[in-house]
Amino acid sequence: MKKKIFLTGASGKLGSTLIPYLEKNYKLFSVGFKKKPVNGFNLDLTKESKVKIFLNKARPDIIIHLAALTNVDLCEKNYQKAYDINCITTKNLINWTKKNNCRFIYLSTDQIYNNSGFNKENNPCPQNSYSLTKYIAEKIVLFNKDSVIIRTNFFGIFPNHNGSLLDWFFQSIKKKKRIKLIKDIHFNPLYVDQLCFYILEIIKNKRIKGIINLGAKNGISKGKLLFNISKKLGIKKFSFSYENFNKLNLTANRPKNMIMNVTKIEKLLNKPMPKIKDCINKLAMNINYE
Ligand SMILES: NC(=O)c1ccc[n+]([C@@H]2O[C@H](COP(=O)([O-])OP(=O)(O)OC[C@H]3O[C@@H](n4cnc5c(N)ncnc54)[C@H](OP(=O)(O)O)[C@@H]3O)[C@@H](O)[C@H]2O)c1
Repeated sequence: MKKKIFLTGASGKLGSTLIPYLEKNYKLFSVGFKKKPVNGFNLDLTKESKVKIFLNKARPDIIIHLAALTNVDLCEKNYQKAYDINCITTKNLINWTKKNNCRFIYLSTDQIYNNSGFNKENNPCPQNSYSLTKYIAEKIVLFNKDSVIIRTNFFGIFPNHNGSLLDWFFQSIKKKKRIKLIKDIHFNPLYVDQLCFYILEIIKNKRIKGIINLGAKNGISKGKLLFNISKKLGIKKFSFSYENFNKLNLTANRPKNMIMNVTKIEKLLNKPMPKIKDCINKLAMNINYE
């Protein structure tokens, strides 16, 4: 019999990309909040009684918890909302898993880091309300011993979603805007389909537990990533300048170095993580830029 997976945040950027990967091999219960995922449900995960009723009916073997307030500036302006969506939802789900022998896979963020070099799993350093609430949620997740916390970042194209780095970049090029490419924030994201592939590997490999960094082998600045993507896609001309992050005048402080050390996951899966160049190549194979 197929294992049952309960996927939260299924109407979001990562969730909607992950659904087709999961549907092939699992019986999937996918939930969004305001938007209903295809073949899925609406559920407010901050309401514990509703969560319990849903889970008692579905009885999943695995919960993959992606739902979150991901708008970093909104988290800074409204800490209570960030706490409710990032922490209370997690608590409600974890309470159910502890009593029901259910594996828990939690999507966390590289924003938890800000040390020099390659950040290891044991060296968190939250800088803003978003990363702090995600970090508190991680602590809640660890109450279930059968849980995996995936610290990651990703890029891709997400039709019908606002707020992704690449969508903003392409739209700015089309509108012939002058683009500020950020040169002082470094990270090691995966292309979103690669991230989905690794999430599947982690689901299959029950030995994987605890906190895992999941990113590319090497790091790059946010600006250089966009520039390299534009070259790979053959975008000939656009107007840009390289700038420091403080030129953007955003509300929340951002960590400057989120590059993660990925040796733990490489050892667990017994294979090297792809390089940023490979991630850009994968993106270029999958999208049609016009
Ligand atoms: N985006 C990134 O670059 C990035 C980087 C690192 C880590 N992550 C982590 O990866 C995960 C997925 O990110 P994403 O970018 O795909 O998120 P997203 O596009 O912002 O989607 C957020 C999801 O959370 C749901 N949600 C919000 N409030 C809810 C509530 N009260 N009850 C139930 N669901 C609720 C939303 O539902 P509706 O839209 O239907 O209201 C949506 O499905 C998050 O945990 C995030 O922290 C993201």
